[in-house]
Amino acid sequence: MDPPGSPYALRRARPADLQALIAMETSAFTGDRLSARSFRRHVESPRADLVVAARNGEIAGYALNFYRANSTLARLYSIAVDETHRGRGLSSRMIGDLERKARQRGCDRLRLEVRIDNDGAIAAYEHMGFRPIGRIARYYEDGQTALRMEKSLHSPTARLAA
Ligand SMILES: CC(C)(COP(=O)(O)OP(=O)(O)OC[C@H]1O[C@@H](n2cnc3c(N)ncnc32)[C@H](O)[C@@H]1OP(=O)(O)O)[C@@H](O)C(=O)NCCC(=O)NCCS
Repeated sequence: MDPPGSPYALRRARPADLQALIAMETSAFTGDRLSARSFRRHVESPRADLVVAARNGEIAGYALNFYRANSTLARLYSIAVDETHRGRGLSSRMIGDLERKARQRGCDRLRLEVRIDNDGAIAAYEHMGFRPIGRIARYYEDGQTALRMEKSLHSPTARLAA
């Protein structure tokens, strides 16, 4: 659900968004980029949720979750918000949406990896309730270490009921 008055709407990505997604990927990341082929596959995959934030038909950001069969662990594989649209809560909203979708699929945890030197993203994830659970050396193409972070998807009521 969009906050009242927000000019940004969240929706599932569709094939017509591919060009905008690739342009965003190119400007947001210097390496380890998703290819056009990967985006196309993820738009259609039953094992992925790819959401975009759009304003007046323009894509301002995207976020991508992966799921595995017989696993309650969802993976936030990638997220990017166009530079001109940052700091307006879009990543929070997209991740909130992916958390709901992951819960609906029966997942109880959301995990991600982030470059250890990506202070802004790490701060944003911490604000959203993710906690560091480990490091993976030489995770990225350029040899950089990843910080692995995880968030429980149990709602407070679900915890009480458990
Ligand atoms: C990381 C990124 C997705 C954040 O997107 P965003 O839409 O600007 O983030 P939001 O506005 O939703 O901010 C979410 C929270 O994180 C905080 N935050 C966001 N960017 C931050 C920064 N650079 N430093 C500190 N805190 C930050 C916000 O204050 C906000 O906290 P709040 O909810 O308590 O107000 C965006 O900067 C980006 O696309 N970066 C380049 C790509 C990238 O690094 N992706 C992550 C790969 S793992």
